[in-house]
Amino acid sequence: MTAQDFILKTYNANVENGSVKWSSPSNIALVKYWGKKEHQIPENPSISFTLSDCKTITEITYSKKEGNDFSFDVYFEGEKNEAFKPKIQTFFERIEAYMPFLKDYHFKIETSNTFPHSSGIASSASGMSAIALCLMSIEQELTDAVTSSAVEKSFFNQKASFLARLGSGSACRSIEGELVVWGKNESTESSDLYGIKFEGDVHANFNNYQDTILLVDKGEKQVSSTVGHQLMYGHPFAKERFAQAHDNLAKLKTILASGDLNAFIKIVESEALTLHAMMMTSMPYFILMKPNTLEVINKIWAFRMKTGSKVCFTLDAGANVHVLYPESEKEIVLEFIEKVLAKYCQNEHYICDQIGKGAELLIKS
Ligand code: PMV
Repeated sequence: MTAQDFILKTYNANVENGSVKWSSPSNIALVKYWGKKEHQIPENPSISFTLSDCKTITEITYSKKEGNDFSFDVYFEGEKNEAFKPKIQTFFERIEAYMPFLKDYHFKIETSNTFPHSSGIASSASGMSAIALCLMSIEQELTDAVTSSAVEKSFFNQKASFLARLGSGSACRSIEGELVVWGKNESTESSDLYGIKFEGDVHANFNNYQDTILLVDKGEKQVSSTVGHQLMYGHPFAKERFAQAHDNLAKLKTILASGDLNAFIKIVESEALTLHAMMMTSMPYFILMKPNTLEVINKIWAFRMKTGSKVCFTLDAGANVHVLYPESEKEIVLEFIEKVLAKYCQNEHYICDQIGKGAELLIKS
């Protein structure tokens, strides 16, 4: 597939109106994407767990219009939201070449998240993938595509992921579950253009793997990921870091098949700390972890030493900690979180989630 293959060539412009609604999850990277080329092409491959309950639910109602401009309104949690408009305008501009019908319709975009607003959980992955999926359903409506065939389904998911990527890179990993790979590499089937469901063997140890997100800091990040990615240009360790991500992905593939949780922990925690090490060693340098992020990490290490638990952590580009553990340890780890870790979270707030199966079409009419 090339980008050209995603250009919609003909469509039926007689469709007057309609409505589609999707729910799309967030995802958490195990091997991290950090550094990109033009058009959100990643500098290195990444792999993520798709989450189950942290989702964005988006409904797009479309109606035929005249004129040659983008026209849309955005509602967030029931209220008109002007702040989201510039991001969506930019997104529409980036994807127009692939969806030439965008200026033929007015779109009412109504969106909400299942996780609390300003919780420090990035909503760009779930938010952008939900919009991309709604637009794909509209494209399908305008082209009378046959949805049932496997080829159609696979094209649908690939193009949805391709579009989501142009909204926010990591959003391309939010279409399917349970593990998604993005970025060309030699160990898995992959593309720089879209995420692909990881089809390698996955050991039963990873069934329903748990992710409890500790909300250490709910505030706005001081440095956006857009800026962070840019700082990988000319970064003194960039080349080694990109090579390491390839290597870690290859290792993780073997680990996912063998179910070796000790090896899993090593890769996942090292990836999280390396991501933050890249931030601390870029110029200008910055730190997104907070003192409580480090407290939590140390407590997790101590708990693991004491109990032999396979609990581990990963981090996004922020201070919050994702606590990962096998379903078989749910009871003991939740007790540990409640008794020991909760006090490091803002208002003792954390969110329990687990690996999920990907986005879902809720309504199409
Ligand atoms: O999708 P972006 O541009 O917000 O980048 C996100 C990058 C990380 O979350 C830090 C890592 C990843 O692979 O998701």
